[in-house]
Amino acid sequence: MKSTETKTVRGTRDFESRVKKLALIGCGKLGEGLLSGMLGSQLIPVERVEATVAHQPRADFLAEKYGVRAHTNNIQAVKGADLVLIVLKPQQVKGFLHEAKKVLRKDAVIISAAASVTTALIARELGRPARAVRAMPNTPCLIRQGMTALAASPDADADDVALAKEIFSSMGRTVVVDEKHMDAITGLSASGPAYVYMMIESLAEGGVKLGLPRELSTELSAQTLLGASSLVLHTGEHPAKLKDMVTTPAGCTIDGLLELEEGGLRVTLIKAVVRAAQRAKQLVEGQNSV
Ligand SMILES: NC(=O)c1ccc[n+]([C@@H]2O[C@H](COP(=O)([O-])OP(=O)(O)OC[C@H]3O[C@@H](n4cnc5c(N)ncnc54)[C@H](OP(=O)(O)O)[C@@H]3O)[C@@H](O)[C@H]2O)c1
Repeated sequence: MKSTETKTVRGTRDFESRVKKLALIGCGKLGEGLLSGMLGSQLIPVERVEATVAHQPRADFLAEKYGVRAHTNNIQAVKGADLVLIVLKPQQVKGFLHEAKKVLRKDAVIISAAASVTTALIARELGRPARAVRAMPNTPCLIRQGMTALAASPDADADDVALAKEIFSSMGRTVVVDEKHMDAITGLSASGPAYVYMMIESLAEGGVKLGLPRELSTELSAQTLLGASSLVLHTGEHPAKLKDMVTTPAGCTIDGLLELEEGGLRVTLIKAVVRAAQRAKQLVEGQNSV
């Protein structure tokens, strides 16, 4: 697969010399994954990170677990930061930018992982050009098996994108795309793990129906999806060709495939991605997120 890459990143001199203070705004599920990934791969020393959340007990938990400065004061976190990583819910981003613009450094790089929030919106809310990079990761980032798409604003340069790439490459694969693709990517790879969990669960139920113990059935199912996915990425072959390798003429797999076709699996998955992408466009004004 040419357009993606995966590697373990150790902190580079370039990253360390560029980022003296990182403000991690909205350190929830995804934010904690990013924090843990960056610290775990020694991308940045913990004393250079300041994380914010809405509730003090959550801040106390993060401070205790990671030794990071964590609190509920966004202004304090953003002050002096050369890199601001926004991991808030989409509908909270405007309020944050409005609040932070008075203290945000003009040369700060802003990386936003919030679905639906465009780099144009970031510049508009700040009232000036912004060195913004949009990121769309997914939850497997938590175990460094993530897929993150990155898109640069017109005012971000190649070094700014490289900075974002370093962060997310420490958590899996990255791909740099045109920003117009970000809603589609949100519906595919950001929401995608949920679709896959449903498939894992359903395949496992099939095993249970045939008498397999549930735990064994789930392991067989999950490893089958992992192995099949890895084969696609490793060989770069079209999935249809790999499917044909499994499908012996008059064998059992073709019977299984016929059932999937009759049940409309393909159309259902295509529609799921399209619907999620449509929803992704609305989140910045809406009530919920990915
Ligand atoms: N989860 C995913 O799979 C995924 C994938 C790709 C992108 N994203 C994007 O990542 C973003 C966060 O998602 P999430 O699942 O991590 O949500 P989350 O767990 O709810 O995290 C949001 C965090 O923001 C904090 N917060 C709320 N208001 C704040 C404020 N005014 N100032 C500072 N912090 C504030 C919350 O603090 P408290 O904990 O104290 O309430 C919480 O920790 C969303 O925009 C989503 O689109 C998520």
